[in-house]
Amino acid sequence: MKNKITDSIFSVGVLNPNVRIADVVVKTSNGTTYNSYVVKGSEKTALIETVHKDYFDKYLKNVEEISDINKIDYLVMNHNEPDHSGAIQKLVELNPKITILTSPAGAIYLKNITNNSNLNLKIVKNDEYIDLGNKTLRFISAPFLHWPDSMLTYVEEEKTLFTCDFLGCHYCEPYGFDFEITDKSAFLSSLKTYFDCIFSPFKKYVTSGISKIKNLDISFVCPSHGPVLTKDFMLDQVIETYEKWSNPQREEDPLIPIFYCSAYGNTKQIAKAISRGIQNQIPNSKVSLYNVAEFDPSDLCDKLNKSSAFLVGSPTINKDAAAPIWTLLATIDAINNAKKLVATFGSFGWSGEAASQIAGRLKSLKLSTFDENFRVCFTPTEKDLENATEFGEKFAKELLKNLN
Ligand SMILES: Cc1cc2nc3c(=O)[nH]c(=O)nc-3n(C[C@H](O)[C@H](O)[C@H](O)COP(=O)(O)O)c2cc1C
Ligand SMILES: [Fe+2]
Ligand SMILES: [Fe+2]
Repeated sequence: MKNKITDSIFSVGVLNPNVRIADVVVKTSNGTTYNSYVVKGSEKTALIETVHKDYFDKYLKNVEEISDINKIDYLVMNHNEPDHSGAIQKLVELNPKITILTSPAGAIYLKNITNNSNLNLKIVKNDEYIDLGNKTLRFISAPFLHWPDSMLTYVEEEKTLFTCDFLGCHYCEPYGFDFEITDKSAFLSSLKTYFDCIFSPFKKYVTSGISKIKNLDISFVCPSHGPVLTKDFMLDQVIETYEKWSNPQREEDPLIPIFYCSAYGNTKQIAKAISRGIQNQIPNSKVSLYNVAEFDPSDLCDKLNKSSAFLVGSPTINKDAAAPIWTLLATIDAINNAKKLVATFGSFGWSGEAASQIAGRLKSLKLSTFDENFRVCFTPTEKDLENATEFGEKFAKELLKNLN
């Protein structure tokens, strides 16, 4: 049977091959799947997660091929985002007796996600067990994989770990296992996009999540998106890849990118003069200039994330910063860049709002904005450029204080 994982675990999720964007920001070039699983013990039956609400009818059919809906005792919610919790309401309308097992944070979120105060919730904590008869569910707390509510569920008797988003991937083929993937390079590319969008803000939690499962005997990882990972095929590779992406090599020398836009070259001249000042003060710093309009925003975002500090410059165009600068500022990882030192600059003609507007955005994301913005009216003079170099020196001194 295609949906059979072990003698007692069955896959009952649904495919969504045509979706191209998930959660507003995640590209899903290869579609996705909303996985859910039935675990049958000799006494009790558990369902692991549900699916997106739009797919309930197909989902119900899949579940009922394995178990009468009224015979399901438990619903394990490892994580309660609506792509996994969306079908709960309809499910409990059919079987109000289901006990929903979730983390302490999960119980709070679920109440507000479903607005149903009659859910039969049971909070489970780290290392707690639920006995299904000859099978046991063991819960492993794993906050921030991907929300604070996240946990993992291990069935020791079947050497199977249910991970929800963790170790998952937005990838859809009409087959269930990793060894059935027909386009491995597309799968690996989807895995990277998924990691970057979902897990890169939570790298330290990924590392600690991996350490929690390292000593488990695992034959199958059943995530809630993408194929089931098997010990004999891609399981180790995916875990090692997640591990590698969570521990990026640290550069010895400080990286200080300067992102700018410039219509007539004035802001660009200021950027160059500032970079000289930084290099005077920190000779081993790697200062690079990026005209934002010429680069892919995700490449720039990567450089920004790896930086020790950075600067952003824009001319004022119609009382605002230039649009490509806002695109860059929209992609900042506010979690991992919190408190990072940043300064703003730009050329203007009469009103000159851009530099302070950019600083305002960065401040609201809780970065550490340098005390001054550096602005020049129209074309910089020699004196303006000297001042810009001095501004770069002051910025670098401030950075040195933070690094030491
Ligand atoms: C379409 C357009 C709109 C502008 N709007 C403003 C403005 O609202 N306020 C202002 O101070 N300067 C404004 N300026 C002037 C520019 O900020 C000024 O020319 C600046 O020196 C351009 O720097 P750049 O060479 O780095 O692009 C505008 C310029 C253009 C081309
Ligand atoms: Fe999620
Ligand atoms: Fe998800």
